Amino acid sequence: AHAAAPGQALRVPEGIHCAQDYEALASRFLDAPVHAYVAGGSGRERTIEANSRAFDELGIQPRVLRDARAGHTRLTLLGRELAHPVLLAPVAFQALAHPQAERATAQGAAATDTCIVASTLSSCSLEAIATEAGPERWFQLYLQPRREDTLELVRRAEAAGYGALVVTLDAPAQAPSLRALRAGFRLPDSLQPANLATHPPAPPLPTAARGASRIFQGIMAQAPGWRDLPWLLGQTRLPVLAKGVLHPCDAKVLKRAGVAGLVVSNHGGRALDGAQASIDALPAIRQAVGDDYPLLLDGGIRAGDDVFKAIALGADAVMIGRLQVYALAAAGALGVAHLIKLLREELELCMALAGCPTLADIGETSIHRWPRPA
Ligand code: FNR
Repeated sequence: AHAAAPGQALRVPEGIHCAQDYEALASRFLDAPVHAYVAGGSGRERTIEANSRAFDELGIQPRVLRDARAGHTRLTLLGRELAHPVLLAPVAFQALAHPQAERATAQGAAATDTCIVASTLSSCSLEAIATEAGPERWFQLYLQPRREDTLELVRRAEAAGYGALVVTLDAPAQAPSLRALRAGFRLPDSLQPANLATHPPAPPLPTAARGASRIFQGIMAQAPGWRDLPWLLGQTRLPVLAKGVLHPCDAKVLKRAGVAGLVVSNHGGRALDGAQASIDALPAIRQAVGDDYPLLLDGGIRAGDDVFKAIALGADAVMIGRLQVYALAAAGALGVAHLIKLLREELELCMALAGCPTLADIGETSIHRWPRPA
């Protein structure tokens, strides 16, 4: 089934009948340590579990006899028309999954009219990704310890035609994955973030005085703060979205500060273990920012009906993290394109059966909560 040389899959692997099958079969396509790194999360993985459980606790409330002949999945986001509401989340170091890494992902995205969000920590340079991507491409920005390094990334993203910056705020310190550690995973030395290759070596962490904390006085001493946001917004004309927001108060302040939209996200359960499921955080954030403010959601989306549920609770669009890596590992660009096609058809079928021919027809009354088992 997966007979073509790596990077040149001509057929999608056998046994993939729905988007989530890419996850179910992922261990076929990834070595065990890499699989553990991708699938795993921080701490006891409570947030990973919550992300998927929260979707399972939601059901869909159908309406009948609605005319769906003019149905479609189009939407307008940041002033651009997108064919569908499924974006590819930023995922670091895709060379772990496939030799063509983000280039293949970008090709799969371009073939399916999908907006790709390229990670600061990608294996390929943002310029190389832009060459393969379609017109809809955003750049995910990690604020660097030195402002001049951040600025260089911003200028390069602008020059390479990225349409928005997505600044990730929920990972100022890296939380280890016990699953990955136990599986013996470590990032190979050969794997370097291509976008940072031109940066001089990172400044050393402030040397901890006796009794000082490695986390607070070390790592967090270089972490971004509120003061960096107006600075960033003043440096670029690109819309800036903030990713990793779960609290409605943060959402309000970010909106007021001039951020163009938010990604409600807990980093797929890879940052703070114990953080709320992103779909559970969504309704209060939508309420806090009002109706007409761009909101995306990621974390736990595994099927088209999950996309439907996210839209019902207030998202304009969603982003896909792990499934994208699994599809890339399975069949390169073709796998990514196939994954998006599956998700889109699952969403369309769900909309048709629910009596919601357009995304605008999906609302709070389109879903219900299953009674919890006693
Ligand atoms: C990520 N994510 C991530 N986010 C980000 O802002 N910058 C990054 O470089 C990465 N890197 C990354 C690597 C890997 C292996 C994974 C699995 C995730 C988080 C990602 O953008 C997204 O928020 C989650 O993956 C969404 O959850 P699901 O779809 O994986 O459940």
